[in-house]
Amino acid sequence: MQTFLTSAAITQWAEAHRAAGRTVGLVPTMGFLHAGHVSLMTRLRAEVDALAVSIFVNPLQFAPGEDLAVYPRDPEGDAAKCAAAGVDALFVPEDFYPEDFSTSVGVSGLTAGLCGASRPTHFGGVTTVVARLFGVTRCDVACFGEKDFQQLMVIRRMVRDLALPVRIVPGPLVRDADGVALSSRNKYLSAAERERARSLHQALFAIRDAVSSGERSVARLLELGRGHIDCDRLDYLELVDSETLRPAERVDRPARALGAAFYGKTRLIDNVGVGPELSWT
Ligand code: PAJ
Repeated sequence: MQTFLTSAAITQWAEAHRAAGRTVGLVPTMGFLHAGHVSLMTRLRAEVDALAVSIFVNPLQFAPGEDLAVYPRDPEGDAAKCAAAGVDALFVPEDFYPEDFSTSVGVSGLTAGLCGASRPTHFGGVTTVVARLFGVTRCDVACFGEKDFQQLMVIRRMVRDLALPVRIVPGPLVRDADGVALSSRNKYLSAAERERARSLHQALFAIRDAVSSGERSVARLLELGRGHIDCDRLDYLELVDSETLRPAERVDRPARALGAAFYGKTRLIDNVGVGPELSWT
Protein backbone atom coordinates (compact mmCIF):
# COMPACT_ATOMS: atom_id res chain seq x y z
CA MET A 1 0.00 0.00 0.00
CA GLN A 2 1.24 3.45 -0.88
CA THR A 3 0.42 6.53 1.17
CA PHE A 4 -0.17 9.90 -0.49
CA LEU A 5 -0.15 13.20 1.34
CA THR A 6 -1.08 15.57 -1.47
CA SER A 7 -3.88 15.81 -4.00
CA ALA A 8 -1.36 16.04 -6.86
CA ALA A 9 0.29 12.79 -5.81
CA ILE A 10 -2.93 10.73 -5.61
CA THR A 11 -4.10 12.19 -8.92
CA GLN A 12 -0.88 11.03 -10.53
CA TRP A 13 -1.36 7.54 -9.05
CA ALA A 14 -4.94 7.39 -10.34
CA GLU A 15 -4.06 8.71 -13.79
CA ALA A 16 -1.39 6.04 -14.19
CA HIS A 17 -3.95 3.30 -13.45
CA ARG A 18 -6.53 4.82 -15.75
CA ALA A 19 -4.01 5.17 -18.56
CA ALA A 20 -3.30 1.44 -18.21
CA GLY A 21 -7.03 0.71 -18.50
CA ARG A 22 -7.51 -0.11 -14.83
CA THR A 23 -10.57 0.99 -12.83
CA VAL A 24 -10.16 3.08 -9.70
CA GLY A 25 -12.37 2.79 -6.60
CA LEU A 26 -12.62 5.16 -3.63
CA VAL A 27 -13.88 4.78 -0.07
CA PRO A 28 -13.96 8.27 1.50
CA THR A 29 -13.66 8.31 5.31
CA MET A 30 -12.76 10.53 8.22
CA GLY A 31 -10.63 7.81 9.82
CA PHE A 32 -10.73 6.07 13.20
CA LEU A 33 -11.69 3.11 11.08
CA HIS A 34 -13.89 0.25 12.22
CA ALA A 35 -15.49 -2.82 10.67
CA GLY A 36 -18.16 -0.67 8.98
CA HIS A 37 -15.52 1.23 7.01
CA VAL A 38 -13.63 -1.99 6.28
CA SER A 39 -16.80 -3.60 4.88
CA LEU A 40 -16.93 -0.83 2.25
CA MET A 41 -13.31 -1.49 1.31
CA THR A 42 -13.95 -5.23 1.01
CA ARG A 43 -16.99 -4.52 -1.12
CA LEU A 44 -15.06 -2.31 -3.56
CA ARG A 45 -11.93 -4.46 -3.51
CA ALA A 46 -13.89 -7.11 -5.42
CA GLU A 47 -15.06 -4.60 -8.04
CA VAL A 48 -12.09 -2.46 -8.97
CA ASP A 49 -8.49 -2.86 -10.05
CA ALA A 50 -7.02 -0.10 -7.90
CA LEU A 51 -8.54 0.79 -4.54
CA ALA A 52 -8.02 4.07 -2.70
CA VAL A 53 -9.19 5.09 0.77
CA SER A 54 -9.17 8.72 1.86
CA ILE A 55 -8.87 9.79 5.47
CA PHE A 56 -9.66 13.44 5.97
CA VAL A 57 -11.53 15.07 8.83
CA ASN A 58 -13.25 17.66 6.72
CA PRO A 59 -13.65 20.96 8.58
CA LEU A 60 -16.36 22.15 6.16
CA GLN A 61 -18.90 19.62 7.42
CA PHE A 62 -18.54 20.53 11.11
CA ALA A 63 -20.39 23.51 12.56
CA PRO A 64 -18.79 25.68 15.25
CA GLY A 65 -19.18 23.88 18.58
CA GLU A 66 -19.27 20.41 17.01
CA ASP A 67 -16.51 17.82 17.56
CA LEU A 68 -14.00 18.77 14.82
CA ALA A 69 -11.17 19.50 17.30
CA VAL A 70 -11.65 16.27 19.26
CA TYR A 71 -12.69 13.94 16.43
CA PRO A 72 -10.95 10.61 17.26
CA ARG A 73 -7.81 9.74 15.31
CA ASP A 74 -5.73 6.58 14.97
CA PRO A 75 -3.34 6.96 12.02
CA GLU A 76 -1.34 3.76 12.64
CA GLY A 77 -4.38 1.58 13.32
CA ASP A 78 -6.14 3.02 10.25
CA ALA A 79 -3.18 2.28 7.99
CA ALA A 80 -2.96 -1.30 9.28
CA LYS A 81 -6.68 -1.88 8.65
CA CYS A 82 -6.45 -0.47 5.13
CA ALA A 83 -3.39 -2.60 4.31
CA ALA A 84 -5.17 -5.71 5.64
CA ALA A 85 -8.22 -4.91 3.49
CA GLY A 86 -6.07 -4.85 0.35
CA VAL A 87 -6.13 -1.10 -0.18
CA ASP A 88 -3.61 0.10 -2.78
CA ALA A 89 -3.55 3.81 -2.01
CA LEU A 90 -4.13 5.58 1.28
CA PHE A 91 -4.82 9.29 0.80
CA VAL A 92 -4.26 11.34 3.95
CA PRO A 93 -4.05 14.89 2.67
CA GLU A 94 -2.22 17.43 4.73
CA ASP A 95 -3.66 20.41 2.87
CA PHE A 96 -6.66 19.23 0.94
CA TYR A 97 -8.23 22.50 -0.17
CA PRO A 98 -6.29 25.02 -2.25
CA GLU A 99 -5.58 28.14 -0.22
CA ASP A 100 -8.09 30.27 -2.09
CA PHE A 101 -10.70 27.52 -2.45
CA SER A 102 -13.93 29.29 -3.28
CA THR A 103 -16.39 26.69 -4.52
CA SER A 104 -19.21 25.00 -2.70
CA VAL A 105 -21.37 22.17 -3.97
CA GLY A 106 -24.83 21.84 -2.47
CA VAL A 107 -27.85 19.63 -2.92
CA SER A 108 -31.18 21.16 -1.93
CA GLY A 109 -34.37 19.35 -0.99
CA LEU A 110 -32.91 16.07 0.23
CA THR A 111 -30.77 17.98 2.72
CA ALA A 112 -33.63 19.99 4.25
CA GLY A 113 -34.88 17.47 6.80
CA LEU A 114 -33.49 14.80 9.13
CA CYS A 115 -29.81 15.57 9.91
CA GLY A 116 -29.97 18.64 7.66
CA ALA A 117 -32.55 20.27 9.93
CA SER A 118 -30.32 20.23 13.00
CA ARG A 119 -27.02 20.52 11.08
CA PRO A 120 -27.89 23.03 8.34
CA THR A 121 -24.34 23.46 7.03
CA HIS A 122 -23.32 19.80 7.27
CA PHE A 123 -24.34 18.38 3.90
CA GLY A 124 -22.92 21.32 1.97
CA GLY A 125 -19.57 20.46 3.54
CA VAL A 126 -20.00 16.79 2.66
CA THR A 127 -20.94 17.33 -0.98
CA THR A 128 -18.15 19.85 -1.44
CA VAL A 129 -15.45 17.57 -0.04
CA VAL A 130 -16.79 14.51 -1.86
CA ALA A 131 -16.92 16.37 -5.19
CA ARG A 132 -13.26 17.35 -4.78
CA LEU A 133 -12.31 13.83 -3.63
CA PHE A 134 -13.92 12.47 -6.79
CA GLY A 135 -11.94 15.01 -8.79
CA VAL A 136 -8.54 14.36 -7.27
CA THR A 137 -8.86 10.57 -7.16
CA ARG A 138 -10.38 10.26 -10.65
CA CYS A 139 -12.42 7.36 -9.24
CA ASP A 140 -14.80 5.31 -11.38
CA VAL A 141 -16.66 3.89 -8.39
CA ALA A 142 -17.12 5.06 -4.82
CA CYS A 143 -18.72 3.26 -1.89
CA PHE A 144 -20.78 4.91 0.87
CA GLY A 145 -22.43 3.24 3.84
CA GLU A 146 -26.15 3.03 4.54
CA LYS A 147 -25.22 3.98 8.11
CA ASP A 148 -25.42 7.57 6.81
CA PHE A 149 -28.47 6.96 4.68
CA GLN A 150 -29.25 10.62 4.02
CA GLN A 151 -25.63 11.27 3.04
CA LEU A 152 -25.73 8.31 0.64
CA MET A 153 -28.89 9.61 -1.04
CA VAL A 154 -27.54 13.18 -1.20
CA ILE A 155 -24.34 12.03 -2.88
CA ARG A 156 -26.25 9.83 -5.29
CA ARG A 157 -28.34 12.89 -6.25
CA MET A 158 -25.27 15.11 -6.66
CA VAL A 159 -23.69 12.55 -8.99
CA ARG A 160 -26.85 12.27 -11.06
CA ASP A 161 -27.52 16.01 -11.20
CA LEU A 162 -23.95 16.95 -12.14
CA ALA A 163 -23.50 13.87 -14.37
CA LEU A 164 -20.29 13.03 -12.52
CA PRO A 165 -18.59 9.97 -14.03
CA VAL A 166 -18.65 8.02 -10.76
CA ARG A 167 -20.82 5.03 -9.89
CA ILE A 168 -22.08 5.08 -6.31
CA VAL A 169 -22.28 1.74 -4.54
CA PRO A 170 -24.14 1.45 -1.23
CA GLY A 171 -22.71 -0.66 1.61
CA PRO A 172 -24.94 -2.23 4.28
CA LEU A 173 -24.88 -0.85 7.82
CA VAL A 174 -22.59 -2.86 10.12
CA ARG A 175 -23.57 -3.24 13.79
CA ASP A 176 -21.66 -4.19 16.89
CA ALA A 177 -22.52 -7.38 18.80
CA ASP A 178 -25.05 -5.44 20.93
CA GLY A 179 -26.78 -4.08 17.84
CA VAL A 180 -25.45 -0.52 18.12
CA ALA A 181 -24.40 0.82 14.70
CA LEU A 182 -20.62 1.03 14.47
CA SER A 183 -19.49 4.64 14.50
CA SER A 184 -16.24 6.44 15.24
CA ARG A 185 -18.26 8.58 17.67
CA ASN A 186 -19.19 5.56 19.84
CA LYS A 187 -15.80 6.15 21.45
CA TYR A 188 -17.25 9.20 23.22
CA LEU A 189 -19.88 7.14 25.10
CA SER A 190 -19.57 6.18 28.78
CA ALA A 191 -20.49 2.59 29.65
CA ALA A 192 -23.90 3.75 30.90
CA GLU A 193 -24.55 5.81 27.76
CA ARG A 194 -23.54 2.89 25.58
CA GLU A 195 -26.06 0.70 27.37
CA ARG A 196 -28.84 3.22 26.75
CA ALA A 197 -27.73 3.76 23.16
CA ARG A 198 -29.08 0.31 22.35
CA SER A 199 -32.56 1.75 22.64
CA LEU A 200 -32.03 3.67 19.38
CA HIS A 201 -31.74 0.63 17.15
CA GLN A 202 -34.31 -1.20 19.25
CA ALA A 203 -36.81 1.57 18.47
CA LEU A 204 -36.05 1.35 14.75
CA PHE A 205 -36.28 -2.45 14.78
CA ALA A 206 -39.61 -2.22 16.59
CA ILE A 207 -40.95 0.01 13.80
CA ARG A 208 -39.66 -2.36 11.12
CA ASP A 209 -41.13 -5.39 12.88
CA ALA A 210 -44.50 -3.72 13.38
CA VAL A 211 -44.65 -2.97 9.64
CA SER A 212 -43.83 -6.62 8.92
CA SER A 213 -46.69 -7.59 11.23
CA GLY A 214 -49.10 -5.42 9.26
CA GLU A 215 -49.14 -2.04 11.04
CA ARG A 216 -49.69 0.67 8.42
CA SER A 217 -50.30 3.83 10.45
CA VAL A 218 -47.18 6.02 10.34
CA ALA A 219 -48.35 7.92 13.43
CA ARG A 220 -48.73 4.72 15.44
CA LEU A 221 -45.37 3.42 14.19
CA LEU A 222 -43.57 6.57 15.30
CA GLU A 223 -45.33 6.52 18.66
CA LEU A 224 -44.24 2.92 19.12
CA GLY A 225 -40.64 3.83 18.25
CA ARG A 226 -40.57 6.85 20.57
CA GLY A 227 -41.74 4.60 23.39
CA HIS A 228 -38.57 2.53 23.04
CA ILE A 229 -36.00 5.32 23.00
CA ASP A 230 -34.12 6.12 26.18
CA CYS A 231 -31.83 9.09 25.42
CA ASP A 232 -30.94 12.49 26.81
CA ARG A 233 -32.43 14.33 23.85
CA LEU A 234 -34.17 13.00 20.79
CA ASP A 235 -33.15 15.00 17.70
CA TYR A 236 -35.55 13.16 15.40
CA LEU A 237 -37.31 9.89 14.80
CA GLU A 238 -38.86 9.74 11.36
CA LEU A 239 -40.27 7.39 8.82
CA VAL A 240 -39.53 8.69 5.33
CA ASP A 241 -39.86 7.64 1.73
CA SER A 242 -36.43 6.15 0.86
CA GLU A 243 -36.16 8.07 -2.42
CA THR A 244 -37.47 11.52 -1.51
CA LEU A 245 -36.62 11.46 2.21
CA ARG A 246 -39.96 13.17 2.80
CA PRO A 247 -42.23 11.89 5.57
CA ALA A 248 -43.76 8.61 4.47
CA GLU A 249 -47.51 8.66 4.15
CA ARG A 250 -47.74 4.95 3.50
CA VAL A 251 -45.36 2.06 3.97
CA ASP A 252 -46.18 0.12 0.81
CA ARG A 253 -43.22 1.83 -0.89
CA PRO A 254 -39.57 1.52 0.20
CA ALA A 255 -39.35 3.52 3.41
CA ARG A 256 -36.67 4.18 5.99
CA ALA A 257 -36.99 4.66 9.72
CA LEU A 258 -34.25 7.00 10.89
CA GLY A 259 -33.31 8.34 14.28
CA ALA A 260 -30.79 10.73 15.80
CA ALA A 261 -30.41 10.93 19.55
CA PHE A 262 -28.06 12.45 22.08
CA TYR A 263 -26.43 10.40 24.83
CA GLY A 264 -24.72 13.00 26.95
CA LYS A 265 -23.03 15.25 24.39
CA THR A 266 -22.75 12.50 21.80
CA ARG A 267 -25.18 12.51 18.92
CA LEU A 268 -25.74 9.09 17.35
CA ILE A 269 -27.66 8.25 14.19
CA ASP A 270 -29.11 4.98 12.96
CA ASN A 271 -31.64 3.73 10.41
CA VAL A 272 -33.35 0.64 9.05
CA GLY A 273 -35.15 -0.20 5.84
CA VAL A 274 -38.89 -0.70 6.24
CA GLY A 275 -41.33 -2.28 3.81
CA PRO A 276 -40.28 -3.16 0.24
CA GLU A 277 -36.59 -2.94 -0.53
CA LEU A 278 -35.22 0.10 -2.36
CA SER A 279 -33.98 -0.82 -5.83
CA TRP A 280 -30.59 0.74 -6.52
CA THR A 281 -29.87 1.86 -10.06
P1 PAJ B 1 -17.14 8.55 8.10
O1 PAJ B 1 -18.12 8.84 9.18
O2 PAJ B 1 -15.74 8.21 8.47
O3 PAJ B 1 -17.73 7.37 7.25
C1 PAJ B 1 -17.09 6.96 6.07
C2 PAJ B 1 -17.99 5.96 5.35
O4 PAJ B 1 -18.18 4.81 6.18
C3 PAJ B 1 -19.38 6.53 5.04
O5 PAJ B 1 -19.79 6.13 3.75
C4 PAJ B 1 -20.22 5.91 6.14
O6 PAJ B 1 -21.58 5.77 5.79
C5 PAJ B 1 -19.56 4.55 6.28
N1 PAJ B 1 -19.86 3.95 7.58
C6 PAJ B 1 -19.68 4.49 8.81
N2 PAJ B 1 -20.15 3.66 9.75
C7 PAJ B 1 -20.64 2.56 9.12
C8 PAJ B 1 -21.27 1.35 9.54
N3 PAJ B 1 -21.49 1.10 10.82
N4 PAJ B 1 -21.65 0.46 8.59
C9 PAJ B 1 -21.43 0.72 7.28
N5 PAJ B 1 -20.84 1.83 6.82
C10 PAJ B 1 -20.46 2.74 7.72
O7 PAJ B 1 -19.21 9.75 6.33
C11 PAJ B 1 -18.14 10.34 6.43
O8 PAJ B 1 -17.05 9.81 7.10
C12 PAJ B 1 -17.85 11.69 5.79
O9 PAJ B 1 -19.05 12.43 5.78
C13 PAJ B 1 -17.27 11.60 4.36
C14 PAJ B 1 -18.22 10.91 3.39
C15 PAJ B 1 -15.91 10.87 4.40
C16 PAJ B 1 -17.02 13.03 3.83
O10 PAJ B 1 -16.17 13.74 4.64
